Amino acid sequence: MAYFFLVSLITLKFVTKANCEIYNQSMQILKTLIAPTEISTIGKFPADTAFLNLGYNRIKQINSGAFEYSRGLVELDLSYNRIVQCDRSSFDGLHRLRRLYLNSNYLNYSLLSIPEGLFKPLFSLTYLNIKDNLNDFKPNVEDIVMKDLRELESLEIDVRKTVNETVFGNDYSQLRHLRQITFGICVLWSINNNTFENLPYLEYIDAKGCSIVKFDTKSLSNRTELRYIDFSYSLTGFEDQKHFLIDMMSTGITILKLINCNRTPMEFPYIFSRYLRRTELKELYLSNNLYSGFRNSKGFPASLLILDLSFNHLTIFQQDITYLSSLYLQNNTLGPFLESHAYIRSKTSQLNKINLATNFIRYLSLEIFHRQPLLADINLSHNMLSEITFDLSNQRSLQFLDLSSNIFRSFNETTRVALSLMFEKSGLKISLEDNPLRCSCFSLSFLKWMIENKDHFYNIHKYRCIFDNNTEIVLNLPRNTLLQLQRMCASYTTVIAITSVAVAVGLVVISGGLAYRYRWKIRYVYHITKKKYWRHIPSRQDSHYKYNAFISYAEKDRDFILKECIPTLEADEHIKLCIHHRDFLPGEEITTNITNAIHQSGKTICLISKAFLESYYCNFEFNMARMESIYGRNGENMLFLIFYEQVKPQELPLVMLELIDRKSYIEYPNDEQGNVVFWEKIKESLSSHHDQ
Ligand SMILES: *[C@@H]1O[C@H](CO)[C@@H](O)[C@H](O)[C@H]1NC(C)=O
Ligand SMILES: *[C@@H]1O[C@H](CO)[C@@H](O)[C@H](O)[C@H]1NC(C)=O
Ligand SMILES: *[C@@H]1O[C@H](CO)[C@@H](O)[C@H](O)[C@H]1NC(C)=O
Ligand SMILES: *[C@@H]1O[C@H](CO)[C@@H](O)[C@H](O)[C@H]1NC(C)=O
Ligand SMILES: *[C@@H]1O[C@H](CO)[C@@H](O)[C@H](O)[C@H]1NC(C)=O
Ligand SMILES: *[C@@H]1O[C@H](CO)[C@@H](O)[C@H](O)[C@H]1NC(C)=O
Ligand SMILES: *[C@@H]1O[C@H](CO)[C@@H](O)[C@H](O)[C@H]1NC(C)=O
Ligand SMILES: *[C@@H]1O[C@H](CO)[C@@H](O)[C@H](O)[C@H]1NC(C)=O
Ligand SMILES: *[C@@H]1O[C@H](CO)[C@@H](O)[C@H](O)[C@H]1NC(C)=O
Repeated sequence: MAYFFLVSLITLKFVTKANCEIYNQSMQILKTLIAPTEISTIGKFPADTAFLNLGYNRIKQINSGAFEYSRGLVELDLSYNRIVQCDRSSFDGLHRLRRLYLNSNYLNYSLLSIPEGLFKPLFSLTYLNIKDNLNDFKPNVEDIVMKDLRELESLEIDVRKTVNETVFGNDYSQLRHLRQITFGICVLWSINNNTFENLPYLEYIDAKGCSIVKFDTKSLSNRTELRYIDFSYSLTGFEDQKHFLIDMMSTGITILKLINCNRTPMEFPYIFSRYLRRTELKELYLSNNLYSGFRNSKGFPASLLILDLSFNHLTIFQQDITYLSSLYLQNNTLGPFLESHAYIRSKTSQLNKINLATNFIRYLSLEIFHRQPLLADINLSHNMLSEITFDLSNQRSLQFLDLSSNIFRSFNETTRVALSLMFEKSGLKISLEDNPLRCSCFSLSFLKWMIENKDHFYNIHKYRCIFDNNTEIVLNLPRNTLLQLQRMCASYTTVIAITSVAVAVGLVVISGGLAYRYRWKIRYVYHITKKKYWRHIPSRQDSHYKYNAFISYAEKDRDFILKECIPTLEADEHIKLCIHHRDFLPGEEITTNITNAIHQSGKTICLISKAFLESYYCNFEFNMARMESIYGRNGENMLFLIFYEQVKPQELPLVMLELIDRKSYIEYPNDEQGNVVFWEKIKESLSSHHDQ
């Protein structure tokens, strides 16, 4: 009947934990598939099977001599069955068995289901797991059954202690190798100096989830062997924790777990640093304890390598953590504090890993990761970061930067350059999973950069990307998305380019037009300002100009000036003229000379001829004088034209016609008589100025 189920052999292709057995035969691994619904009793196996896994079946009972033929078994897994009862000789012959799993069955811990002598043949057993059984009726395995396991090193067991009952009775003192105890279903109520009295060699206690409502002082003191204690979800009273921690001072504790032990919000208590400071503690797990603040700063033991304060309500954390290697601070409220502070106070640190996930971080101070040269792993996921404001340039060991589930849209140029350096320096990998990355023309260079460096982005194929029209895609084919975007943005760029060129041309035309329209004003203002800054001009208030008139003429008409103008006006009447070839300062710019001359003369007289109209400088002088009269002399008429030659009105500029309208001109006569009148008129117009 039993071997009916042994459907062999070697050829089977797939194996799952729930319905298979794995055993070793003559160094060859044979895999046997047994349908899970079928096996309810134990079959026969090859004599030299060493590892037998019958877990997750429907075995109800272990008959006597069930393993008689499997004397070579080293490991036997009967977990997750429906075993109600074992027979006294169930394990006969298993002298070599080292590990036995009976957990998660229906054993009720009475002598009927686990009879005395059951474990007697198990000379070599070092590990026994009988936890998670249905033991309401009889909470503890009888000591008398356990006393046979002389080699036992590690025990996993359920405990339901009644108030005064001892759990590990005298018989346990025979188990001289028992170092490790793990509780499954567990109610301990109180721990005192009797609880582990008969287990003097204990190094490891996992009492997770045991209700420990009372912990007496000196229950675990002076146990120098003790290395590991997990009282998570168990030791909830503050005074009990204090007693416990005081005991720890005289143990060899290196790993301590008190997860979810504090049920009312409170400031991080002083007891941890006070009592643990002198221990050799290496790992301390205090997550899920509703601790807030963190003002106490007595410090942790220097030996500490791992500190877990995640899932608390910390708002402040700043410690001397010179030797710490891993710091877990996720699921706290450190965001506001870290905007302007560092979590580390020491000058140097050995920190290798920091987890700041889920801390409401919007912004981190620039130096937050400074002085931590060994930092390899930074976790900032599930925050509200949108920019990398912190400096990583000295992080030579950084391997992983987790920025997943933040609000990054892209990285700007500065950030990209800095990160590219990091990629080369330390081989950094970044996760940007679950960020609202942008797929727009503005983020094109970012996407391009990211795809160029795609080996440095963890899970890049899962990144989200949001288009301008709010359509969201997953970047599972990043290169295709990039191409699509490039095509889209190319036309966009063209439109932008054309528009900008058009705007630029428009501006040039308009400003050119304006400049042309106001060219003389601009030049006038330019020269006047230049003069004001560079040269002292005597105030015009005294109304005495240096010259009575500045004569503007073309070079061709120079004879008239030399032979008629100067002799007639200057010699006779003491009228002072400004003549360019005589009065201009050598070495000074010509335009400056002109403006000075106009400025320092009461009138400007233009000798109009065809040559004058064609000459650049004559035009300049005329227009400058015009500007001076408008802007420098409040519209006073200081410009006077002499028509030395016949010029047709259409050949004259419009502005000259205006002057003609105002009768501010005179024509040069041809006859002797007219000549006298002509000079009289000129003198008059000059001296009229004198009288003012
Ligand atoms: C089989 O036995 C060898 C040593 O004989 C061991 O290394 C290996 O882990 C065993 N296989 C299984 C599946 O237990
Ligand atoms: C405990 O298990 C034994 C063996 O199956 C059974 O005879 C006994 O009635 C059980 N006791 C209780 C209280 O269930
Ligand atoms: C427990 O032991 C104490 C004294 O050792 C005794 O006073 C008390 O009655 C006991 N309680 C129970 C429930 O047996
Ligand atoms: C255990 O504690 C009790 C009272 O708390 C004390 O009387 C007794 O001496 C202690 N035993 C040992 C071995 O320390
Ligand atoms: C622990 O050891 C110290 C000194 O070795 C001793 O004074 C103290 O009584 C011991 N405590 C316990 C509870 O055994
Ligand atoms: C911790 O953070 C995760 C997200 O990482 C969140 O889902 C969870 O609700 C948080 N837990 C607590 C207790 O704050
Ligand atoms: C970062 O922390 C989050 C939340 O604690 C976790 O889900 C994630 O796996 C961590 N990332 C890495 C790389 O360890
Ligand atoms: C890029 O972002 C960083 C961080 O916010 C900022 O310090 C830097 O000035 C930005 N650079 C540019 C070019 O905008
Ligand atoms: C949004 O824009 C993207 C890229 O231009 C395009 O592929 C997608 O079809 C658009 N979605 C909608 C709903 O317009």
